[in-house]
Amino acid sequence: MPWLGKWSGIAESGVLWSVFQGNAHSVLLDLPSKHFNCVITSPPYYWLRDYGVEEQIGQETTVEGYVDAIASVMDEVKRVLKDDGVLFLNLGDTYYSGKGKSHGKDLKSSKRRFGLREVDKSGGLGIGLKPKSIIGIPWRVAIEMTLRGWVLRSPIIWHREHCLPEAVKDRPRRSYEYVFMFTQNRRYYFDRSILETEDVEDMWTIAARPKPTNGIDTAPFPDELVQRCLNIGCPADGSVLDPFAGSGTTLRVALQSGRSATGIDLNPDFCSYMVNTLCVL
Ligand SMILES: C[S@@+](CC[C@H](N)C(=O)[O-])C[C@H]1O[C@@H](n2cnc3c(N)ncnc32)[C@H](O)[C@@H]1O
Repeated sequence: MPWLGKWSGIAESGVLWSVFQGNAHSVLLDLPSKHFNCVITSPPYYWLRDYGVEEQIGQETTVEGYVDAIASVMDEVKRVLKDDGVLFLNLGDTYYSGKGKSHGKDLKSSKRRFGLREVDKSGGLGIGLKPKSIIGIPWRVAIEMTLRGWVLRSPIIWHREHCLPEAVKDRPRRSYEYVFMFTQNRRYYFDRSILETEDVEDMWTIAARPKPTNGIDTAPFPDELVQRCLNIGCPADGSVLDPFAGSGTTLRVALQSGRSATGIDLNPDFCSYMVNTLCVL
């Protein structure tokens, strides 16, 4: 079995959910082709935090290694997505300090990996970056995915309202991340009726990541972000996948709106939390 644990259940609304504990790539290899209507996911960002599990993505020594790890998972996501399916991929960027560290030590968060190990001994992260450069991770991943057959339909900006200001003095503080909307074909499910009420369609101002209050810190995304993706990119009775499910935000919001949901995560504690949450829906 490619997974270390598997749980499933039926929510009160009558829709099915499943959770797999394991490496996203290996578990996906075992899931049926053309099954899901919509995938909404936020993979680990590059060099940002340590999720405390072997085989985790995000700790690669080169940018190319990270880009390949994410794009390879997305290759399998493409296979399990229906022909008219839609993928929403949330990605953030990382700065390169040039000192074998991503960004300097973060005293506020012991979960973050900044400065915990010496990597990148040759400098430039294998792509000749100068110190203080932003790496450009989201676009590097997005471009690699287009080379592997994805159609990049829209880079949506998630403007993170009231986010914690970065402690920087020599550049503007960041306040957004990307949510890339990908399809695999020219025709796909899309409901734009909800967007017609908005002045701006490709910039979503939504609260920053919610503070963890549940004893686990997965860097969750807000419910509203998931709900918006579902509204435009998933039929009302569709099936939804999150291959980096963390605390299960995607699954919970999908089930609450009557869609079936599947999640994968490597971390056993996150899976237990997710299963306990879904069991009472
Ligand atoms: C940014 S978090 C996802 C947070 C989630 N969106 C939520 O709302 O809680 C990324 C997740 O990817 C998981 N992860 C890291 N490497 C993985 C891998 N190779 N396969 C599956 N999950 C992985 C981590 O354990 C973490 O929970």
